[in-house]
Amino acid sequence: MVANMIAAQVLLKPDSVLGLATGSSPIGVYADLIDRYQKGELDFTQVRTVNLDEYIGLGADHPQSYAWYMRHNLFDHIRIDRSNTHIPNGLETDCQKECKRYDRIIRSLGGVDLQLLGIGPNGHIGFNEPCGEFVRGTHCVDLSDATISANARFFESPDQVPRQAYTMGIMGILQAKRIVMIAMGRGKAQAVRDMICGPVHPEVPASILQLHSDFILVADEEALSLVHPVSEDD
Ligand code: GLP
Repeated sequence: MVANMIAAQVLLKPDSVLGLATGSSPIGVYADLIDRYQKGELDFTQVRTVNLDEYIGLGADHPQSYAWYMRHNLFDHIRIDRSNTHIPNGLETDCQKECKRYDRIIRSLGGVDLQLLGIGPNGHIGFNEPCGEFVRGTHCVDLSDATISANARFFESPDQVPRQAYTMGIMGILQAKRIVMIAMGRGKAQAVRDMICGPVHPEVPASILQLHSDFILVADEEALSLVHPVSEDD
């Protein structure tokens, strides 16, 4: 379903700006897009991409970096101009410089047409962690203990999970024309409920998506298990 939405976007606007996400949720979507590309149904030569986030301290050749993930799961298998693909530079130690550079890139692309999102078990989007305020622009984040342990499954041990990351800010995400989120499994149920049913609050960063006019959630039954259907009495 999500691959259909992305395919439609690219077919209707071949130079679309796609906001891309990492994690386990979008892997099937990328595999489906590769399949369509190989069948000659999709052309990515004019597509521009901007990724949500990157771990600080991991270079593009580190197998757990998001730059590596994107090459391995998508870019290496389709014809796309690599200079049109953007990911924060995890090896840049000057945080201010990198955040400004990334926000300039997002602006120069004219905003995102379709933003793909996952959701962290604590309600984070990108690496916008629960905190006292919504942060607008690209910024450097101290990862929460919850995120470090949720993402430890990709590393040999929790000690190896980087403690910081660069992430696109809430404004970069909200400015996308359309946002599509994938949420799968029981581990996401509370976050999905808080996102949809709770107040819009920076302690649940995904709750800001309630304010977007074109937000689509694609979820399985387990992820939706705590969201109760509205009854006539509600
Ligand atoms: C990471 C990424 C997020 C992603 C989340 C969910 O923390 N920074 O962008 O949405 O994981 O990952 P998964 O899809 O593996 O559950």
